[in-house]
Amino acid sequence: MILIIGGSGFLGYYLHHNFIKNGQKVNSTYFKHRINEEYFHYLDVTDKKNIHTIIQKIKPDVIIYASAITNVDLCETDKNLAKAINVTGLKFTIDAAASFHSKIIYISTSAVFDGSKKSYSEAEKTNPISSYGLTKSMGEELVLNSNLPYLIIRTDQPYSWKKNWHHTNSVLRVIEHLNSNEEHLEISDWYNTPTYVPDFVACTQKLVNDDHTGIFHLVGSDFKNRFDFALIVADIFGLDKNKIKAINSSVLKLPAKRVNVKLENKKAFEKTGMAMSNSIDGLKKMRKIQPV
Ligand SMILES: NC(=O)c1ccc[n+]([C@@H]2O[C@H](COP(=O)([O-])OP(=O)(O)OC[C@H]3O[C@@H](n4cnc5c(N)ncnc54)[C@H](OP(=O)(O)O)[C@@H]3O)[C@@H](O)[C@H]2O)c1
Repeated sequence: MILIIGGSGFLGYYLHHNFIKNGQKVNSTYFKHRINEEYFHYLDVTDKKNIHTIIQKIKPDVIIYASAITNVDLCETDKNLAKAINVTGLKFTIDAAASFHSKIIYISTSAVFDGSKKSYSEAEKTNPISSYGLTKSMGEELVLNSNLPYLIIRTDQPYSWKKNWHHTNSVLRVIEHLNSNEEHLEISDWYNTPTYVPDFVACTQKLVNDDHTGIFHLVGSDFKNRFDFALIVADIFGLDKNKIKAINSSVLKLPAKRVNVKLENKKAFEKTGMAMSNSIDGLKKMRKIQPV
C-alpha cells in the first residue's frame, strides 16, 4: 500500500492517479483543498496525532511525502510555517512509519544546493542559501538518518497541465498571458532544468516498482534560462513570442535569494533506462495531450 502525503498537490495528484492507472493500491491526503474522491483523506501534518492515526489505519509499505510549502518567498517571510510543514511534519511521519518499517520517499528540490558548481550529481553535498532550501535539506537529513529504506527525489521547475486548485507553473503562465494578448515578462537570469511532470511521475513509478533506494535527480535534460524557455513555449504552442519581454530578477525585489542550480539526471537514466525529456520534447508531448 502506498500513502501519498500531499496527494492534493500538483505533483502528488499526478502521482496518485498514475499509481491508480497502474493498478497499485494508493491512499492520499489533502489539507486545504478537499478532494472528493475515493482513497483521499484529510490530514494536517502539523498534527502529530492525525499523522499517527492515518498511518496506523493505512499501514503503508511506501510513504511519499509531497506536502510542502513550495512558495520560496513565503518560506523566507514565514520561516516557522516552512519548518512546520517541510521538516516537523516529515519528522512526525518518519516516527509514525517506524513501526511499519515503511519506505520513505521524500520529494526534494535543486534549492538544497548553493549554485557554486557548474552542475550537481546526487553525490554532491548540500548547502542551501534560502529558508526553503534549508528546510528541504533538513528534511533530507531526517530521511537519511531515519533507519528506514528511502528515496530522496529532487526535481526542478515541474510543468504540465494542472487542476484548477493547483498553483500555476512556468509554462501555463506563458500560455495564459499570450492567449489573452497580454505582455509576458520573463526573468532572464534564472536558470532551471524544466521537468515535464509525466516524465517525473513515470520515473518515480519505476523507482518504486523496482524498489530502488538512494538519492535521484528527476529533472529535464536541458538547462535554460526562464526567458529562453518561455520563447520555446511560445514556439511550440504557436503563440506570439514578441509579447515576451526579458527582465532581470533584481527588479522584482523578492524576499528569497535564488541561485542557478543545474541538476544532473544521468543516474536516473542509468538505473531505470528512462530518459527525461528536454524542453522541446516535453513541451511537444504536453501540447499533444488535453488539459487534465
Ligand atoms: N513546484 C515546484 O516548483 C517544485 C520544485 C522542486 C521541488 N518541489 C517539491 O515537490 C513537492 C511537491 O510540490 P508541489 O508543487 O506538488 O506542491 P503543492 O502543489 O504546493 O502541494 C503542496 C501539498 O502540501 C499540502 N499541505 C500544505 N500544508 C499542509 C498541512 N499543514 N498538512 C498537510 N498537507 C499540507 C497541500 O495540501 P492542500 O493543497 O490540500 O492544502 C498539497 O497537497 C514538494 O516537496 C516540493 O518541495 C516542487
